[in-house]
Amino acid sequence: MIGIVLLIVVLIAPVIISLLVAFYAKLSGCYLNRYYIYSRKRSGEYELHCHPAFGFYYATPAKFFAIREDAIRRFRRRHPDATLFAVTMTLQGFYERNGYAGEQVHQKGFKHLAGRISDYVLILCNLANFRKRNDKEWQFAHLIRRVNRSIPRRYVVFENANIRSYNKTGTLVRRSKIMKLNWFPLGRRSLLFGVHQFIWHPWTVYLSWKRLYGKPTWREIICIIIHDWGYWSAPNMDGPEGQRHPELGARIARRLFGGEYGDLVLYHSRHYARLCGQPPSKLCWADKLSILYEPKWFYLLRAKLSGEIHEYRLNGEKEFGLKRSHSEWFDWIRGEFQKLAAAQKGDAVPYQSRDAIVQSEN
Ligand SMILES: [Fe+2]
Repeated sequence: MIGIVLLIVVLIAPVIISLLVAFYAKLSGCYLNRYYIYSRKRSGEYELHCHPAFGFYYATPAKFFAIREDAIRRFRRRHPDATLFAVTMTLQGFYERNGYAGEQVHQKGFKHLAGRISDYVLILCNLANFRKRNDKEWQFAHLIRRVNRSIPRRYVVFENANIRSYNKTGTLVRRSKIMKLNWFPLGRRSLLFGVHQFIWHPWTVYLSWKRLYGKPTWREIICIIIHDWGYWSAPNMDGPEGQRHPELGARIARRLFGGEYGDLVLYHSRHYARLCGQPPSKLCWADKLSILYEPKWFYLLRAKLSGEIHEYRLNGEKEFGLKRSHSEWFDWIRGEFQKLAAAQKGDAVPYQSRDAIVQSEN
């Protein structure tokens, strides 16, 4: 009899606790959506928690990540200047692919145990995990084994575009130090062998410049070569750091050739130009049209090698979704960029970024 009561308690307790936590999050304003809540840390940062109080039912990765994106958007609307981080064992691959640098978190005692238990509950809550992964193994068993083997990592989902931030112990650290932790960030991979490969990409921009405006001058050629160098230290392509990528090339162009060329590089980004209340520069349209000179297989190969493809697909999620193939996505994005270059207007097609979605909802 006692055994049955204990079993019922063990089965029901996580559900009750989960509902209570969700209820408390609702009361305290920390509830984001049916999968996510957040908490405020003493350091002033916020932590994102996956908390599907009513279970996942059958969440495919596409649905899961869409709801996760929605939670982040909601958080950002409430706390536009805050730093949000997440500690995870199961989503490490997702963060790494998207260019986030994680730090290991060594939890001890109760925290460690609570983290493990909540991961088990999360895995077992999702009915999609009760399927055979292969002949020998169930998906939930595979995930539980992974949780047992991994050390949790902490990822900054986004941070205040401030020069300073806090590390996990609440100590103020310089942003440059955080960047150093990320020894091979996404932007650098993009420049070395990705979409913005430092030889091939300027070549395609040169060809499209020629098509749009005739042969560029040698000063313009230098601007074409350097315009994306600012991605070097960016951990993302369109996040807070990636969006500032025109600044480095613009500084170099300004010093070499003066303000006119500085602006040519600085406003090659539609987003940056819009932030400064300026029209995009000639280089913007040549940059967009350069995709015409990209063989599909070569572009996708580079985008996959560097991992950029994931961020681009998420950026275009609202307009194109995540279900279709990368090949179809490439055809679509090529059409969008062509439209942009033909219209030469910043708002000819919507700006694709997760930030843009935030702004449009504000
Ligand atoms: Fe470019």
